[in-house]
Amino acid sequence: MGASLDLALRMTFQLRVCLVFATVRIVTLTDPSHPNQVILLDTTAVLGELGWMTYPVNGWDAITEMDEQNRPIHTFQVCHVMEPNQNNWLRSNWIPRQAAQKVYVELRFTLRDCNSIPWVSGTCKETFNLLYLESDEPHGPGARFHAADYGKIDTIAADESFTQTDLGDRVLRLNTEVREVGPIARKGFYLAFQDVGACIALVSVRVYYKKCPSTLRNLAAFPDTVPRMDSSSLVEVRGACVENAEERDTPKLYCGADGDWLVPLGRCVCSIGHEENDGLCLACRASFYKAFAGNIKCSKCPPHSFSHSEASALCHCEKGFYRAAKDPPTTACTRPPSSPRNLVYNINETTLLLEWDPPGDTGGRKDLTYNVVCRRCGGPGQPCDPCVSDVRFIPRPVGLTRTSVAVQDFMANANYTFQIEALNGVSGMGRAARQVANITISTEQAGPSLVGMVRRDWSSQNSIALSWQEADQPHAAILDYEIKYYEKEQEQLSYSSTRTKVPSAIVTGLKPSTVYIFHVRARTAAGYSSYSPKFEFSTGDEDSEEVSDQGQVLVIVTAAVGGFSLLVILTLFLLITGRCQWYIKSKLKSEDKRRTQYQNGHVPFPGIKTYVDPDTYEDPSQAVHDFAKEIDPSRIRIERVIGAGEFGEVCSGRLRTPGKKETPVAIKTLKGGYTERQRRDFLREASIMGQFDNPNIIRLEGVVTKSRPVMIVVEYMENGSLDSFLRKHDGHFTVIQLVGMLRGIASGMMYLSDIGYVHRDLAARNILVDDNLVCKVSDFGLSRVLEDDPEAAYTTTGGKIPIRWTAPEAIQYRKFSSASDVWSYGIVMWEVMSYGERPYWEMSNQDVILSIEEGYRLPAPMGCPVALHQLMLHCWQKERSQRPRFHDVVSFLDKLIRNPSSLLTLVEDVHSLPESPEDMPDYPLFISIGDWLDSIKMSQYKNNFIAAGYTTLDSISSMSIDDVRRIGVSLIGHQRRIVSSIQTLRLQLLHVQQSGFHV
Ligand code: ADE
Repeated sequence: MGASLDLALRMTFQLRVCLVFATVRIVTLTDPSHPNQVILLDTTAVLGELGWMTYPVNGWDAITEMDEQNRPIHTFQVCHVMEPNQNNWLRSNWIPRQAAQKVYVELRFTLRDCNSIPWVSGTCKETFNLLYLESDEPHGPGARFHAADYGKIDTIAADESFTQTDLGDRVLRLNTEVREVGPIARKGFYLAFQDVGACIALVSVRVYYKKCPSTLRNLAAFPDTVPRMDSSSLVEVRGACVENAEERDTPKLYCGADGDWLVPLGRCVCSIGHEENDGLCLACRASFYKAFAGNIKCSKCPPHSFSHSEASALCHCEKGFYRAAKDPPTTACTRPPSSPRNLVYNINETTLLLEWDPPGDTGGRKDLTYNVVCRRCGGPGQPCDPCVSDVRFIPRPVGLTRTSVAVQDFMANANYTFQIEALNGVSGMGRAARQVANITISTEQAGPSLVGMVRRDWSSQNSIALSWQEADQPHAAILDYEIKYYEKEQEQLSYSSTRTKVPSAIVTGLKPSTVYIFHVRARTAAGYSSYSPKFEFSTGDEDSEEVSDQGQVLVIVTAAVGGFSLLVILTLFLLITGRCQWYIKSKLKSEDKRRTQYQNGHVPFPGIKTYVDPDTYEDPSQAVHDFAKEIDPSRIRIERVIGAGEFGEVCSGRLRTPGKKETPVAIKTLKGGYTERQRRDFLREASIMGQFDNPNIIRLEGVVTKSRPVMIVVEYMENGSLDSFLRKHDGHFTVIQLVGMLRGIASGMMYLSDIGYVHRDLAARNILVDDNLVCKVSDFGLSRVLEDDPEAAYTTTGGKIPIRWTAPEAIQYRKFSSASDVWSYGIVMWEVMSYGERPYWEMSNQDVILSIEEGYRLPAPMGCPVALHQLMLHCWQKERSQRPRFHDVVSFLDKLIRNPSSLLTLVEDVHSLPESPEDMPDYPLFISIGDWLDSIKMSQYKNNFIAAGYTTLDSISSMSIDDVRRIGVSLIGHQRRIVSSIQTLRLQLLHVQQSGFHV
């Protein structure tokens, strides 16, 4: 027994040596270094004694050796393989769990395989047990060890044992095993290792828990975070912006169970004066600035500005340079302009024209304007006074953008000094002297002297007849007189004026029982006289008939002459438009029966096929299959991208057909990542288009559905969409060419309405033009087109509708029909005749709806034949059954094309009445110039009209485009809009006169 024990001990000792120190090489199977681990215990890092408990004391051995750097290597060994019933315990010190809920225990050990030990009996084991015990504090020194208190974590077996290499080395395989322990509820725990008769060397024990380590992401700092026990739920962590950064969207990360950060959301951006560098926000250097928070770099100071300090949000202007209040900090600093150059004048009859050149130095700005200061000087040595308000400047005395101004109503025989000052957005900043150009002008020609006494000849409720004495000795022929008048009560708040060539006038349109003030002045080639003193006269009351005999004669004569003129004008108008009107009327009658059906829905023509709604198919891909040819993608060559559709790019390319010439095509693609619904919606257009066969409808070549990308291939239209094509070629076409385009569109629409298809989004942007100017209707797909159309807006009923193009009944209660398509067609006519102008200009959608409801209709575009505007007005009948059908439209346009002289009468040439007042749409009656300009969104020109003496609607009705230009409307688009509206107004005025109203 003693000999065998001795042998056993010797062997145990040898084995210990073999276990640990006979190792020639240690092969590490795993890499234990992880930054997301918080170490609670690492035996390899403990410098002093470990002080672990063994039970019984001769079970586990603690062996501490020193490595090359003189650091201790703590090893625990046990190898009682020869003795049965082993129960040897090794217990760690108390390990506080800190923030951990779950801990990981990593053991590195060697375990000898029993077969490799000579003479071992069946008592040899190849496993050991790992156990733990939770407690809130370490057990006291005298506490007894109770093995039963420990809970088992796992039985640990070796993966590897001693092995022999080919070279005969003895290689000790070091096992690494990791076990999870938790949840741990108490403040700490003990680990225990139970040996039941194995030969083990425990080389190291590491205990750690996992955390998501503090990190910087998207300029936000995230703290160390311990994951949840439950590995499927993440911990949401809010980041804090780094210094000099600010939140855009709340920065967030999620901490996963393995200590990895997941799903970054939100971000911070560097504040003003700071830029991002290596995850931090650093101050801009001197001479650089950053005016806005964001992840952009600091910029160099703009010209004429500087920043001496770091972290500048703004660069300051150099001396003498400024920024206007509205200038962004990114712009260069600028200065006031120098004075205008080469100021000259030219007197032409009653107008003095001042002209100059722009200043040599604009100060670096583009917002140059000019102000005119006028002074009138008496004789030599006499002082100069500011010009009184009766000198008129056209377009105005201040804020001029052109380098000229016309002066009117100046006094004859006077000296004037004019100063022209150039200004820009920074004029008046700083103390720089004003830079002006001066000129002194003498109006040498003698002007007329004062008008004599003004008398009232008679008055009625609404009129006063005046006469006055001619100037005593006029030095020049009097061209005319101007009578300025206003209500005494209103005293100059607003005034009206009228002109007459004789020294008398009947001022009409006055209020009954109201006192008016009158001034009269004369005009000769040399200019105006000053106004006469004021004369007060009142109109009669409602009951009085204070009209002199002479007055009655005048009224009767005026009425007779007026009536006769109206008769002549009316006859002329009937001659011009009668044929068209008659045509439309007779056509309307013959179609009356069909119209009722048309109003209620589609009635197919016998023998004409009917459109099939692909949505009625149970399987939408069957509709595609039925109506569209599948094209082999190898036949398609894509050449370039020409646009972007809702579903993907639109490209141009070529389509090869065996035995035929390659054809140019447009290819609509469906971008990757689409849903089934998007694919169905995309292909719906092909199932619709594939049913059409008409030269004015875009032709479908086929589809690619069996490979990616999914494509719709249609004929190529060289000139793209009609609206942009017209805008690009403004004014380039003859009326006949434009009518030809309109005829094509109407013919395409006639085909669609015949087969029962309602387009719902007919607009110039949805018409394509080929290189022969043939127009074809495109963009099909029912509701989808409206989603796609940038013009479509949501109505109060929730639908998305292109308001400006849509008939009122379709907007109000979604009654879409071929009749509502006809309304849209009228708008397309207007778009074509105005070369792509936006219908109703900048009016809001809400205002468009209201004004249509009130009876307002778009006026004829400039240069539009009367016949076409009449057709537009018919398309815009409120009552949809009254609108023409597309058949009517096509034959009407055909007649016009066959008889081009019918297109010669332009709206601006018509000074007569329409065929009958019932045919006139119910236009609103404007009451003042201001209202009228407001209604066409041209209010900015109110002062130009008033300053030029156009104070009544009557007075503007004879204005030509030249007049409009002359009063200072310089933009061609605005000139057009005003002139078109004047033409319509002229018709309205005639209509109103005929009905006996006064405007
Ligand atoms: N843009 C959209 N469709 C087109 C087509 N068919 N031809 C030319 N340009 C287009």
